[in-house]
Amino acid sequence: MKILVTGGTGFIGSHLVEALLKRGDRVRCLLRKTGDLRWLKGLPIETAVGDCSDETSLREAVREVDQVIHLAGITKAVKEKTYFEINALGTKNLIQACLENNPRLQKFIYLSSQAAAGPCRNGNKKKESDQCEPISPYGQSKRMGEELALAHTQELPLLILRPCAVYGPRERDFYTFFKLVSKRVKPCLFGEDRHISLCYVDDIIQAILLGTRSQVPSGEIFFLSDGQDYRLEEVGEIMAQAMGVNAICIRVPVWVITGMAFFLEYFSKLSRKPPLLNKGKVEEVVQKNWVCDITKGKTALGFQPNISLLEGAKLTFEWYKKEKWL
Ligand SMILES: NC(=O)c1ccc[n+]([C@@H]2O[C@H](COP(=O)([O-])OP(=O)(O)OC[C@H]3O[C@@H](n4cnc5c(N)ncnc54)[C@H](OP(=O)(O)O)[C@@H]3O)[C@@H](O)[C@H]2O)c1
Repeated sequence: MKILVTGGTGFIGSHLVEALLKRGDRVRCLLRKTGDLRWLKGLPIETAVGDCSDETSLREAVREVDQVIHLAGITKAVKEKTYFEINALGTKNLIQACLENNPRLQKFIYLSSQAAAGPCRNGNKKKESDQCEPISPYGQSKRMGEELALAHTQELPLLILRPCAVYGPRERDFYTFFKLVSKRVKPCLFGEDRHISLCYVDDIIQAILLGTRSQVPSGEIFFLSDGQDYRLEEVGEIMAQAMGVNAICIRVPVWVITGMAFFLEYFSKLSRKPPLLNKGKVEEVVQKNWVCDITKGKTALGFQPNISLLEGAKLTFEWYKKEKWL
């Protein structure tokens, strides 16, 4: 099978490309001219230069592939409108390019996000059938990407996967958390317990690979996580255990991270580099329940997460150490 992967230079995408090659698929990667190729170096892939925000640049990339796995997207931006230009309109452009240049496409898999659905408002786990209430520009842009894709379910076999927060080797956001824990600090938020879903990158890749072979109807959506419900405080404890350190819990009031986000956003406008933390991220972090239900994916796709947080944190920590990130 020949598969076009967008976002192949990124964290999840580079793991996916390796896994597809290992399975025996032929892989074409969509690359931006400015893309960082370090994780793809030496891999036997075909490349096509293109940018999701420019539909004409996608025409050649989508030709004569059997499936498209669309991971290209941004999780941080200097300006809010950039989320919508890349995550939402970028998805629309890619689908349009497929419809016009590859009418025999067998499947289009869109890696959306739990953020597209928003947090869970009742005490339960969020299900795919629940109403979508994204609360950040990132989440809203991913939901808009879903809606733009869902408008074509009759013309294009579409599968939407919604991972929760993903961690593992090459990841940079949790890396900050690992760095703090390695300095014996477990950052926690003041106030009530907050609950989240998490998933190790290999389990997300397992779900995508299952998705490429699944026969579910076009337009189905699946949440992906390791199936557990973690208290935010517990995440730091498990990471510290994985790293073999005793870390102290530092409780940060919400107004402190709101202030930090304000300053980081201000400096990001000056430097024109996306900030590590912004208002949207703070809005997401302060929510009480980000736990999703993966029963549907287990039943319909055969998804079976294998890696516990402790095991995944150990693997990630070992990789950070090996690469001298820690
Ligand atoms: N990481 C998570 O926790 C998580 C959770 C849920 C969903 N997701 C979704 O999973 C996908 C991959 O996430 P990730 O964490 O692997 O992100 P990442 O490491 O930041 O990688 C993003 C990828 O998208 C590419 N890209 C960005 N803008 C593009 C454009 N205009 N045209 C073409 N390619 C573009 C980047 O290419 P360059 O090398 O050119 O920058 C890079 O390959 C995203 O769609 C994200 O929304 C991630």
